[in-house]
Amino acid sequence: MNITVIGGGYVGLVTASCFAYLGHTVRIVEIDTGKADLINQGVPPIYEDKLEEILRQISGKNLSAQSHYEGIEDADIILICVGTPPQDDGSADLRYITGASESIGYALKGSTKYHVITVKSTVPPGTTESVVIPAVMKPLGDISDTVGFCMNPEFLREGRAIDDFLHPDRIVIGGTSQKAIEVVQKAYEKLDAPVITTSLKAAEMIKYTSNAFLATKISFSNEIGNICKKLGIDVYEVMKGVGYDHRINPYFLNAGLGFGGSCFPKDVMALIRLAERYGEEPVLLKSVIEVNEQQPGRIIQLLRTRIGDLKEKKIAVLGLAFKDNTDDVRDSRSIPVISELLEQGAIISAFDPMAADSMKKIFPSLSYYTNAGDALEGADACLVLTEWPEFSKLGSEFARMKNQVIIEGRKILSCSGIEGVCW
Ligand code: UDX
Repeated sequence: MNITVIGGGYVGLVTASCFAYLGHTVRIVEIDTGKADLINQGVPPIYEDKLEEILRQISGKNLSAQSHYEGIEDADIILICVGTPPQDDGSADLRYITGASESIGYALKGSTKYHVITVKSTVPPGTTESVVIPAVMKPLGDISDTVGFCMNPEFLREGRAIDDFLHPDRIVIGGTSQKAIEVVQKAYEKLDAPVITTSLKAAEMIKYTSNAFLATKISFSNEIGNICKKLGIDVYEVMKGVGYDHRINPYFLNAGLGFGGSCFPKDVMALIRLAERYGEEPVLLKSVIEVNEQQPGRIIQLLRTRIGDLKEKKIAVLGLAFKDNTDDVRDSRSIPVISELLEQGAIISAFDPMAADSMKKIFPSLSYYTNAGDALEGADACLVLTEWPEFSKLGSEFARMKNQVIIEGRKILSCSGIEGVCW
């Protein structure tokens, strides 16, 4: 099939690359010419496991990138993968969705081929119907029989996105007609996964609900973890016992500093704002955010009970990324922790296997090290803030600290004498 992907950001690039890998002819429309050039050279503009390998195989063959909308009328499917960043009040900013939809409409003017315009971006329920369809149709006028509309959310985790795309738990397709849904379904026919077909609005809501539920599991585990800590119980032992119940399952029950990243905080807030706009008070979702915002403060409290006043104390921070296997620091829980340490006068020596350069843009004045041992040298205490698997191998490096006070925000270390934020 011919597939055009609008937006060569994280979701767009992974989606385009995987569709090309499955054998489709894929074009990315990315307004940033620098990014488009890199993609055409087979160089990923972002870090994602396995992406470089795949890009090398397909770019210049059945994957190309361009910075304009010309030629997209040959596409069977046009996927909208642009950002929906949060506005000041947390609601989703749809300006890129509107802009892309209008540009698609103008580019398809005069085309007689059947196209399915498909939204992949995470958008509030009702957006495809009330924003995308009118914007695309405005320049097209009354030729609705040549276009169909679908909403096909992504469930890609950073660092594991290629595997998540190629081995999904499910594929959700909402559509305006059976014909449109079948076109999108065909693009995925090589994948072995259940396909859920539904309305546009329900598909949009499935995405928000999935993220809100996963975020709820994490905040729930954190609250139980905070209670367990007071009772002297290891929450990880508790959740192991709980997760064996198939109705609960063992995933996303890891207590710690809470959730960060580009999706959970933003999507839960957008859902809260959406509910409020319709006169609903989303009590549970607000608590999910509240628990998440409190967790970073808890590790600071714990640190103070262990070493007292933080002024002029050297604190080694291991882990800056919002989770392991990524250089992304968006909404990382390490940001509020570092801000508070600085506020209280601590001196920070930081190490992350991948994310130091991203964090330097937010905190340029920290001392960044290229290995954990050097960051630990002479430290009064160490905070572990990201679940990097390589941290589990740390041991003798801690002997370089002045005081061996080690507190984990993510349960990852395997040496003894470690205290956790809620275990
Ligand atoms: C998430 C969703 O998983 C994905 O389906 C969606 O499309 C985008 O958002 P991502 O943000 O890449 O993916 O990361 P994820 O692995 O879900 O982790 C999010 C955050 O939750 C991280 O900060 C992680 O450390 C934290 N987390 C995760 C926990 O604190 N405990 C857990 O048990 C799991």
